Amino acid sequence: MPRYALVTGASSGIGLALAEALARRGRSLLLVARQRDALESIACELTQRFGVEVLFRVCDLAEPLQVSGMLMELEQGERQFDLLVNNAGIGTSGPFIEQHWSDEQELIELNILAMARLCHALGALMAHQGGGQILNVASVAGFQPGPWMSNYYASKAYVLHFSEGLREELRPQGVKVSVLCPGPTRKSFFRRAHSQVDRLEGSKLMMSPEEVALITVRALEKNRAIIIPGWRNRLAARLPRFAPRWLVRRVVGRINRAFAKS
Ligand SMILES: NC(=O)c1ccc[n+]([C@@H]2O[C@H](COP(=O)([O-])OP(=O)(O)OC[C@H]3O[C@@H](n4cnc5c(N)ncnc54)[C@H](OP(=O)(O)O)[C@@H]3O)[C@@H](O)[C@H]2O)c1
Repeated sequence: MPRYALVTGASSGIGLALAEALARRGRSLLLVARQRDALESIACELTQRFGVEVLFRVCDLAEPLQVSGMLMELEQGERQFDLLVNNAGIGTSGPFIEQHWSDEQELIELNILAMARLCHALGALMAHQGGGQILNVASVAGFQPGPWMSNYYASKAYVLHFSEGLREELRPQGVKVSVLCPGPTRKSFFRRAHSQVDRLEGSKLMMSPEEVALITVRALEKNRAIIIPGWRNRLAARLPRFAPRWLVRRVVGRINRAFAKS
């Protein structure tokens, strides 16, 4: 019986590129997202191209009841999972108090609660079966506060710190935990966040999801703790440490304000 990698947010962007990179390496997959048609055709394509088993499960991870249902199925099923990729995430952009609360709540449910819950359930299963690997997707945004995207930046700081903590906790049980911190990466994310960062399209700052995925799977094989693709992003993640926090807040706020759609 093969062991599976569960990849959330696998219907587009970085999640899709990661699923493809894993299938190319012969991994059996369980893809999770909301769009059934997209998941079905991706599963079919990956199976045909790489000859691996690719299953999919439709689930709105921002709905705690749906997450409970999926986890119950996984816990009662016979399949074993030795890789969890918590990639699904959304962003909001603009003045926090002017956003719809439902959007901000959805962000917290998805980026923080669903991610932590999947780590809790599958981390326990992996520890019980004697090992496994977890990859959580944060962002370079997680290294600093981000006015005008305050909730998003804070959610990614949570993912970053939580993953580093969990890495130490689960090390004795053979479960390796890594966190991916991409910078601007091409795809639909920015349109959903109502941000105009997609204006960076074509600039050297923007990486492709495929580049990010390739760097990530190689880093996972080396069990890297924090994966920051590209030297520009590594610099962006380190710079805030050398500047006073008031200055970091101002600079990041200015950038985010310029990119926020009115
Ligand atoms: N793109 C960037 O520049 C960038 C930079 C740093 C970090 N990141 C992080 O990278 C991750 C992926 O971003 P991306 O740019 O690849 O985004 P994307 O292209 O918008 O893809 C997001 C994925 O998450 C899924 N998703 C969204 N809401 C969901 C929900 N409620 N339940 C289940 N699945 C849901 C989407 O599928 P469905 O619509 O089918 O549900 C889609 O597969 C995110 O965590 C993001 O914060 C992105």
